Amino acid sequence: MIEVKGLYSRIGGRTILNDINMRIERGTFTAILGRNGSGKSTLAKHLNGLMIPKEGSVTVDGIPTSDEERIFDIREKVGIVFQNPESQAAAAIVEDDTAFGPENLGLDAEEIAQRTEFALKETGIYHLRRRPINELSGGQKQLAAIAGILAMKPRYIVFDESTSMLDPISRKKVISCARRLKSELNMSVIWITHYMEEAALSDRIMIMDGGRITADAPPAEIFSDPEMTEESGLCLPPCAKLCQMLKKSGLPIQRTALDADGCADIIYKLMKGDTK
Ligand SMILES: Nc1ncnc2c1ncn2[C@@H]1O[C@H](COP(=O)(O)OP(=O)(O)O)[C@@H](O)[C@H]1O
Ligand SMILES: [Mg+2]
Repeated sequence: MIEVKGLYSRIGGRTILNDINMRIERGTFTAILGRNGSGKSTLAKHLNGLMIPKEGSVTVDGIPTSDEERIFDIREKVGIVFQNPESQAAAAIVEDDTAFGPENLGLDAEEIAQRTEFALKETGIYHLRRRPINELSGGQKQLAAIAGILAMKPRYIVFDESTSMLDPISRKKVISCARRLKSELNMSVIWITHYMEEAALSDRIMIMDGGRITADAPPAEIFSDPEMTEESGLCLPPCAKLCQMLKKSGLPIQRTALDADGCADIIYKLMKGDTK
C-alpha cells in the first residue's frame, strides 16, 4: 500500500499540496483528475521519492520515501510514466532501453533477458525490440517507456498524463496496456489525467483542485454530480453530458451513462417506456 499522510508541498511561499491524505491499495486502478496546476504532478513525484515530503509523510509498503537508504527500493516499487514520450529513453535501441533498469539493479544476465522479454511482450512491442527508439511513433515510445518500468517489476505504476500527447489510437493502446497491468499482473495503477472519460474506466476517482483532494469516490458517483465536477474545472464525458441534458429537459432519466453503450441503453429503454 502507498500511504500519504498530512502531505504539504510549498514552493516559494506558495502551497502546492495542501494536506493530502490518501491510500492506494495493491491491485487497484485509481484515477487522479484535476485541472492544470491543481498539483497532480507534484503529488505523483512524491509517490516514488522524486520529491521528498518536508511536511507529512509518504510510505510505500511501509517504507518512508524520506529514508535515503531505501530510495532505490522505493523507485523499484513505484514507476512513473511521464507525459512526454520524447524524453524518457535511456538507450538508443528499444531492447537496450528496456534492459537498462534491470541492469542497474545488478541482476544476472539471464534474469535481465527474461525481464526484458516479459516487459516487451506485455506492452505489445516485442516485434519492435531491435528498432531505434527515435524511429518509433509517440504511442510506441510511451509503450517503450512502460516496458522499461515493467522490467523493474514494480508494484505500483503512475501514469502522469501519459496519453496527452498521443493520437487517439495510440491513446487507446496505452490505456488498454495500463488496464492489463491491473487485471493480469495485479499491479496498482494510478492514472493521472484531465480527461474525465479516461477516468471513467477506473475503480475510484480522486479529484484534485488547488492542491487539495476535493472528491474521492467511484466513477458513477463522481459523474452523477455535474456541478461538483464543473466547479473543479472538469468537463463531463460527452455521454454523461448528454444524459444530464436530456434529464434537464424533463425526460425521466435516473442513471448516468459513462460511455456510448450505456448511453444507447438508456435512450433505448426510454423509447420503449422503461425508465429504470
Ligand atoms: N518547480 C516549480 N517551481 C515553481 N512552481 C511550480 C513548480 N512545480 C510546480 N509548480 C506550481 O505548482 C502548481 C501545481 O503544479 P503541478 O503539480 O504541475 O500541477 P498539475 O500537474 O496538476 O498541472 C502549479 O501552479 C505550478 O505552477
Ligand atoms: Mg501535471
